[in-house]
Amino acid sequence: MTTDLILKFADAEILLDDAAYHKINSQDDSIELADSLLSDIVQKGNSVYLLTEDMVEEFLEESVPRAEPPSQSKLLPQDFDFQILQDTSKKSYTNGEIKDFSSYFASRYHKIWQMLSRKNELKNVQPIKTAQRSDDVVEVVGMVNDIRYTKKNHKFMEIEDETGTMSLLVHNDNHQLYEDAERLVKDQVVGVVGSRKGTLLMASQLINPGVPRIDEKEMDFSAVFLSDIHLGSSTFLEKAFQRFIHWMNGDYGDEKQREIAADVKYLVVAGDIVDGIGVYPGQDKELNIKDIYEQYEEAARLMGELSDVKIIIAPGNHDACRLAEPQPALPEEYAGDLYQLKNVEFVSNPSLVNMDGIKTLIYHGRSFDDLAMTVKGLSHQNSDIIMKELLEKRHLAPIYGERTALASEIEDHLVIEDVPDVFHTGHVHINSYKKYKGIHLINSGTFQSQTEFQKIYNIVPTCAQVPVLSRGSMKLLKFN
Ligand SMILES: [Fe+2]
Repeated sequence: MTTDLILKFADAEILLDDAAYHKINSQDDSIELADSLLSDIVQKGNSVYLLTEDMVEEFLEESVPRAEPPSQSKLLPQDFDFQILQDTSKKSYTNGEIKDFSSYFASRYHKIWQMLSRKNELKNVQPIKTAQRSDDVVEVVGMVNDIRYTKKNHKFMEIEDETGTMSLLVHNDNHQLYEDAERLVKDQVVGVVGSRKGTLLMASQLINPGVPRIDEKEMDFSAVFLSDIHLGSSTFLEKAFQRFIHWMNGDYGDEKQREIAADVKYLVVAGDIVDGIGVYPGQDKELNIKDIYEQYEEAARLMGELSDVKIIIAPGNHDACRLAEPQPALPEEYAGDLYQLKNVEFVSNPSLVNMDGIKTLIYHGRSFDDLAMTVKGLSHQNSDIIMKELLEKRHLAPIYGERTALASEIEDHLVIEDVPDVFHTGHVHINSYKKYKGIHLINSGTFQSQTEFQKIYNIVPTCAQVPVLSRGSMKLLKFN
């Protein structure tokens, strides 16, 4: 390489000074750079006999053409009314100091307290310290702690606010209330109405912040939802994904399916676009593409075939991203080729975007693991019920410190502050759909066939089935 460079210039009877040589040699594509430098000198008819570092720099600044991004030369034909409403990528201030935990929980408590204090049932909400001295019925808002059962199988827990803690008892005679209490999880913020008996609060009502019923919005377009593509894995369903790409481009499917494709304006990817590397022990044996950069290059190659839709990409736990949530957007350092595509928007996990008036909350779904393990009746198979529960709790990952790593941010960005029109998740590899109080709850399945891990746990994925919100109604298109 080194002598090649000197020889090239020697052939052209041009001397390189030391600094110029090092400048050229430090570039990734030093030989190509030398060639274009030489042809530039020839073109301009300059009689250069000594090339200096300044001249190389000037050439680099002015003349080196930027690589053309693939298939993006044509302008997007559609008008997009698109905004990123909430993105935490640039809002991560955590420095890992312990004091951040208290501000994180205080932020969570206050955000949800705001919602709860507007409820009729909690008009007379008191700080726990005051409630401890009050007689009769009290209304408090607390963070749940230390959930246990008494010997007689009543539910017992501690609730806490900034002023104090109280023990809460839910009697198993009150079936509806007991059922509500069974869905409470550690670290969730909940409203309680109850009567004080000494140091104990006997609950009569448990109140979630909840969501109001929303009016459905008119849609004159379609939006497509993907997640868990797992590119690079040997179980990635490449052929099915190719069919999906062809469908998006109007080259696959029956007449009806093509009609839907013609309407598609947005494509949302809720994480795990690639399989990643080192996500679990022995993963490399299950990878076709073992290099993380190449996995994203392949993603860019496939996504690059879609030119007239806006693509919104959030990361998941397999992506090359900080694992702790909120996860910032995919780093350009790894996904450089995807960043070359002009129609791609990168957002954090979670994030909230506006797609022509349709507010979409995007969350990969890692916390589903914790909820499925903790709450009776919740499982990976029915993530729609988990999504409903998260909306009611107004928090995407209420349990702190289990499998879902949460960053100890100063602010809790996982509180669901705005009620979305669409709540889109992935992670469990099983499609689900439900309309809840006018909100579309969508889990977009996967493009990965059953993995070794899933075989052991008897998890049967629903593969290559793509949910499309087509002018307001849900269609599930199959590409397998
Ligand atoms: Fe995942």
